[in-house]
Amino acid sequence: MTNHAMVDVILGLQWGDEGKGKIVDYFAKDYDLVARFQGGPNAGHTLYFDDKKVVLHQIPSGVFYADKLNLIGNGVVLDPVTLKRECNTVASFGVDLRKSLFISERAHLILPTHRALDKAAEASKGNQKIGSTLKGIAPTYMDKTGRNGLRVGDLLDKNFTTAYIKLRLKHQRLLDNYAFDEDITAWEEEFFEALEFLKELNVVNGEYFINQQVQAGKRILAEGAQGSMLDIDFGTFPFVTSSNTISAAVCNGLGIAPQKIRDVIGITKAYCTRVGGGPFPTELTDETGEELRRIGNEFGATTGRPRRCGWIDLVALRFACMVNGVTKIVMTKADVLDEFKELEVCTGYKLNGKESIEMPFRLDRMHVEPVYKKFPGWKTKSSAAKSMEELPETMRTYVSFINQYLGVAIRYISNGPERNQIISIK
Ligand code: GDP
Ligand code: IMO
Ligand code: MG
Repeated sequence: MTNHAMVDVILGLQWGDEGKGKIVDYFAKDYDLVARFQGGPNAGHTLYFDDKKVVLHQIPSGVFYADKLNLIGNGVVLDPVTLKRECNTVASFGVDLRKSLFISERAHLILPTHRALDKAAEASKGNQKIGSTLKGIAPTYMDKTGRNGLRVGDLLDKNFTTAYIKLRLKHQRLLDNYAFDEDITAWEEEFFEALEFLKELNVVNGEYFINQQVQAGKRILAEGAQGSMLDIDFGTFPFVTSSNTISAAVCNGLGIAPQKIRDVIGITKAYCTRVGGGPFPTELTDETGEELRRIGNEFGATTGRPRRCGWIDLVALRFACMVNGVTKIVMTKADVLDEFKELEVCTGYKLNGKESIEMPFRLDRMHVEPVYKKFPGWKTKSSAAKSMEELPETMRTYVSFINQYLGVAIRYISNGPERNQIISIK
């Protein structure tokens, strides 16, 4: 059998919001199919179409190309309400989703009671809150691994309502334990309305669908959500999301074999952000951190929360490159650093007085002192640059240090939020 290695992956190497939406939208022109393989509406992927900003939560970021197909894979958890809302937004741009969007029948459904459980569980955590997006992600994945969940394909079963009621009762008992007493009738009404909408979309057997595309020699781009440091296994547990976010998840989130994967394109910001709770060694709680937030407009695309900001963390990035097998790096938001006089890069962690370049088991329980190397800022409007030659020398020094440290090259620099603000580096 011939081996068509035709699947490339784009994923985030930090704690999310690296610019996946923009980068997937940019690269999608070179592919036939864009597929989401994990996560759910906790994701907020921003892109610009016709100069208008669009934030996608459930639909893959290839949707604005008329000739591309988009697949929501089995590894995704799907909220029909968010999906319906988003389909309407996308359709208002003239996109015909009946032609271009396909949904795996094996994707698990986020029920209104999953959202309620997420809220109740977070409220019970006191000062140990994860900072969940409250979209019902963890309870839905728990029902998946606990073998209770309902899937998109179940919608066509005549016993769906009975199965729904059974699961809802189970959830109600848990909610009673949390003393959760909010009325979710309105959520349930919109949920059932959205299910009717979902039934009209292209629900497919995702694994045959994608493997047929692979066999036909189509080029496939897998779009990650969240970031590697939010991975359920390799992230800063328990301050993580509830899915595997790394490249390995492409295989079980879509039903394709590992040897089909070619490039793993990792995205990092030129600095670092995190939204929600949990350890963040290079976080800046001072004026510099505020400047990064202001200039980078670092507010959550899903929840609007201010993002925590800090310097780039090469210990975490090196770890992320390792677990993902990153072959190319895209550095985004380089323009955000334009005005800074001096930049710092974290090259090690001091843990109990000893310097290390490895991620420890429980970062949240340790006192971490980041070790920094300083670099001069470029103090130039890099967002105006259109080619590598136009980028400031100081930026190239910064980039080449990172390349050497990681052993993987930064191949693209994104210098603004718009689709074509990206520079290829030779
Ligand atoms: P995602 O979740 O990884 O898709 O990232 P988000 O969309 O949540 O957050 C990234 C934000 O940065 C969005 O507001 C993008 O429009 C913006 N963005 C992406 N790339 C760049 C860039 O190179 N420069 C600037 N200034 N903004 C960017
Ligand atoms: P994109 O795809 C940034 C964070 C939440 C919280 C933790 C768990 O836009 O990069 P969850 O709702 O998944 O149970 O929340 O993970 N989180 C994200 N942070 N970007 C995201 O997605 C995120 N999705 C979840 O803030 O700390
Ligand atoms: Mg985001």
